[in-house]
Amino acid sequence: MLILGIESSCDETAAAVVENGRIVKSNCIATSLDEHKLYGGVVPEIASRRHAESISGVVKAALEQAECTIKDIDAVAVTFAPGLIGALLVGVNFAKGLAASAKKPLVPVHHLRSHIASNYLTSDVEPPFLCLIASGGHSHIVAVNSYTDYKIIGKTRDDAAGEALDKAGRTMGLAYPGGISIDKLSVQGNADAYAFPHPRVDGAPYDFSFSGLKTSVINIVHNAKQKREEINTADLAASFQKNVVGCLISNLEKVSEKFGHNKIVLAGGVSANSLLRSESERLCRRHGWELYLPQLQYCGDNAAMVASQGYYEYLAGTRAGTALNAYATMPIDIVNF
Ligand code: KG4
Ligand code: ZN
Repeated sequence: MLILGIESSCDETAAAVVENGRIVKSNCIATSLDEHKLYGGVVPEIASRRHAESISGVVKAALEQAECTIKDIDAVAVTFAPGLIGALLVGVNFAKGLAASAKKPLVPVHHLRSHIASNYLTSDVEPPFLCLIASGGHSHIVAVNSYTDYKIIGKTRDDAAGEALDKAGRTMGLAYPGGISIDKLSVQGNADAYAFPHPRVDGAPYDFSFSGLKTSVINIVHNAKQKREEINTADLAASFQKNVVGCLISNLEKVSEKFGHNKIVLAGGVSANSLLRSESERLCRRHGWELYLPQLQYCGDNAAMVASQGYYEYLAGTRAGTALNAYATMPIDIVNF
């Protein structure tokens, strides 16, 4: 079965063709990242405009690279939530038009579910497993009971891990996205130079809180400026990264031990982080747990993961009509459209 996936939830306009949820036939991405770099973060209006300009070319390229036409496609899968509303609407409306004109089923896909599916493109892993999803907008620990059944066990109370890294990077004067800049710079820094706390959330032992850490970085940078002291940015980046990764790993360990999971999966843009990858390997080796990491090319937003999840949603009977809308927020476990 061939699924055409379409993704436009943030600043990547993407389309891909995937066979039976696992075999990538094509994977095309146009990104407006360079324009957002000028502003230090994604500007929703610019992202929407670029999606509208790029989407038909990207979908055409995905079909061509897969050496097929829309006639060969069995269903069109599209990210419909969560994300930037104006950005999502471009993909959703394009997919609705394409599916209706080609008389193909339309399958709405939740963005975080598709991030989890990036692992189905990388290995033969199958649910059930425990997944840590860390992206620019979300940080969740989720029990993935089946391809379409999820239970949220922990989540962030404020900023996502990627958001905290991006904001900290911006404060340190690093290029957007801060997560990638911090990862690169940390190699040269001393991760023990600055001490940050592991924030705890009262009554919710598996939840995260990253906004206080971000404020700590802002304070360190501002205090140094006032005293006209030089900051070693590599040390600060490495220390901050160590702390964010430490928070993610320690809750993942707690949940896994408490609920008896021995199959761990990582997903989301932050799963590209080199320290998070090596620390999760260390954690799983220590406990004898299986670990699955998405290939780097599938960590960030892409449409191959949408087509993969779209396949499993299709098998589960998920269908939408021309009334499909986009939603800025939507929990991963209870999907309504
Ligand atoms: O999943 P994603 O591409 O988009 C969302 O759904 O949010 O995640 C983007 C996030 C950004 O915050 C970015 O800084 C972070 O992933 N990121 C990284 C790395 N690569 C991307 N964070 C740390 N280390 C990286 N290597
Ligand atoms: Zn994403």
